[in-house]
Amino acid sequence: MTNSNRLTAEQAAQISIPAHATDGEAVLIRATRPQDAETILDLYPEISTRSLYMRFLRVIDKPTLKQVQRYTNVDFDIHLGLVVLYGPEQKLCGAGRIIRTKPEESIGELSCMMIDKMQRKGLGRLLVATLIDQARAWGITEVVALVHPQNGPMLRLFKSLGYPCQIVWEEGDYMVSIDNRLPPDFELNPPYQKTPASA
Ligand SMILES: CC(C)(COP(=O)(O)OP(=O)(O)OC[C@H]1O[C@@H](n2cnc3c(N)ncnc32)[C@H](O)[C@@H]1OP(=O)(O)O)[C@@H](O)C(=O)NCCC(=O)NCCS
Repeated sequence: MTNSNRLTAEQAAQISIPAHATDGEAVLIRATRPQDAETILDLYPEISTRSLYMRFLRVIDKPTLKQVQRYTNVDFDIHLGLVVLYGPEQKLCGAGRIIRTKPEESIGELSCMMIDKMQRKGLGRLLVATLIDQARAWGITEVVALVHPQNGPMLRLFKSLGYPCQIVWEEGDYMVSIDNRLPPDFELNPPYQKTPASA
């Protein structure tokens, strides 16, 4: 992709993509806005200790508004932040981001979170797939993520997105690396299939 058709920070801050959850409900994936901070803060009681641990890889207390604002008042040159809005009420139920150290950096680190009661509706997959896809237009050719070894859903999700995906053990966690130079190709990169247990 040439620099002229690269997604700019201004365009990234306007991302708004309609989709559907696996239960058929309408979903909107849009760029994070500063006004989302209080809504996100109010969601923390709806997130289990386990989910928080899988996201932050350590025990965390409920954050302050100022801490949440680090995720919502962002510079879209280095921080591609998206939220998931579910149903006709557009309830914010998840958020994710890819960050890079500087605007010209081609490696970005992904993290994401869905509130527990909205998990397993295909929203995590939509969010992660959209983040990676938009990040490619934004100049990211490699997406990395540190994943807890007990986070099977996240590891399976990464392995089934249709990208070349490498997973290496790194000091107690898995470092996932997705080759994001090309759009997903499920024939070249089929989802990992579990070998059926022999009878
Ligand atoms: C990981 C996470 C984002 C997945 O979100 P989600 O909305 O539940 O994901 P989806 O519904 O799109 O499901 C993705 C895949 O994981 C599987 N999955 C999701 N939750 C699962 C669970 N608890 N047990 C087993 N499989 C699960 C789904 O079956 C699905 O696979 P499929 O599409 O092949 O059927 C969500 O569980 C979460 O926020 N976890 C806590 C935070 C976290 O782990 N963040 C990632 C840090 S890098």
